Amino acid sequence: MATIGISLSRLKSHIETLSSYGRNPGGRGITRSCWSPPHEEARKWLLGRMTEAGLETRVDAAGNTFGSLRGEGAAVLTGSHIDTVPEGGPLDGALGVLAGLECLQTIKAAGLDTRRPLAVVAWSDEEGRYGSLFGSRAFTGKLDMAQVPTLQAVDGIKLVDAMAGAGYDASRVAEARCDPRTLHAYIELHIEQGPHLEAARLPIGLVEGIVGIRRNRLTFIGEPDHAGTTPMAWRKDAFLAACEYALKAREHIVRKGSGRSVTNFGRIELSPGVSNIVPAQAVLLQEMRELDPKILARLDRECAALARTITRRRGIKVVVEAMSRTDPARCAPRVMNAVQAACEKLKLRYKRMPSGAGHDAQNLALVTDSGMLFIPSRGGRSHRPDEMSDWKAIERGTNALLHTLLTLAG
Ligand code: HGY
Ligand code: MN
Ligand code: MN
Repeated sequence: MATIGISLSRLKSHIETLSSYGRNPGGRGITRSCWSPPHEEARKWLLGRMTEAGLETRVDAAGNTFGSLRGEGAAVLTGSHIDTVPEGGPLDGALGVLAGLECLQTIKAAGLDTRRPLAVVAWSDEEGRYGSLFGSRAFTGKLDMAQVPTLQAVDGIKLVDAMAGAGYDASRVAEARCDPRTLHAYIELHIEQGPHLEAARLPIGLVEGIVGIRRNRLTFIGEPDHAGTTPMAWRKDAFLAACEYALKAREHIVRKGSGRSVTNFGRIELSPGVSNIVPAQAVLLQEMRELDPKILARLDRECAALARTITRRRGIKVVVEAMSRTDPARCAPRVMNAVQAACEKLKLRYKRMPSGAGHDAQNLALVTDSGMLFIPSRGGRSHRPDEMSDWKAIERGTNALLHTLLTLAG
């Protein structure tokens, strides 16, 4: 039988259409935050495409959107997310959802009856505007329900209100929890979002493990003072303490981490926040990422101690709070073997590699055999408007996903 293949023209038109929801003017990329109007319009559009493809659709209490093909026993799941970072690109998440849809549509149209059920899912709020990897955390029973009423975005909008605005009741999110016995495996196609595959001129990345992420909020508490009359030696400047901490914590993580450990300071808020008052408070958001859970925990502890040392010397206070924690995950050999077999069948060269980005697949690894495959990102760029991959790369990755699904679903 000729090797079955996906329709790139249909996939391309779906990717281009989805990218229109939440597109910003002036080439400033796409902003499609979970539960926002553009996200809910995109969800409706996606449900329409799933129905058109002959899939049975449902949306669970955490807003995870499913399209399935019937079968017996435990299901093989694929998918990713349709929410984006602010001013993001057209492929992060969207590729995995639309490629999954394309594979199921191709399987259905070819009349191939797989033994197991197959489903494609778009997980809620993967980017964590309200709570990191929210939808897959709820699905895998890892969401701390007591936290839900307090979860809010950095601009102060509460999750409960954002969900209500989209017609969802946040108090019912726990109903999304799955029964792990209904799952056979999970596989996610994603752009690499880094430079390695393009540099190695390889079409496929076979993911071995996904980094753990610790997101912390550090509140440096100094004292407001007149910016002109207060002698420099008297100032209890929260901003300068935060700066000293950020530079020293970065050095520490680079030198004392695994050599792959990374950290980022994505946001700082000063108050009162005007130019003629010495900053009384600085709220700094930091994340650190590492494949080895012990190293990650050690770096987290050591950075908190560093913050206390710096602030004690400066005569100010600091509060370190964990915003979210996601453990590192190893990908399942059974799923990795299925990806490998698909690449060999399609004569696609691949390399085994870690994921420096967090993904829903690491939550699914808590309840089933879970894995990922990557395609190269142009210039290694992502989380920015010019995030893109070659259409040929998208076709190869989606065909590799198709054959991986056929192997896993029997
Ligand atoms: O931040 C990440 O690693 C992912 O893109 N959410
Ligand atoms: Mn992302
Ligand atoms: Mn993503």
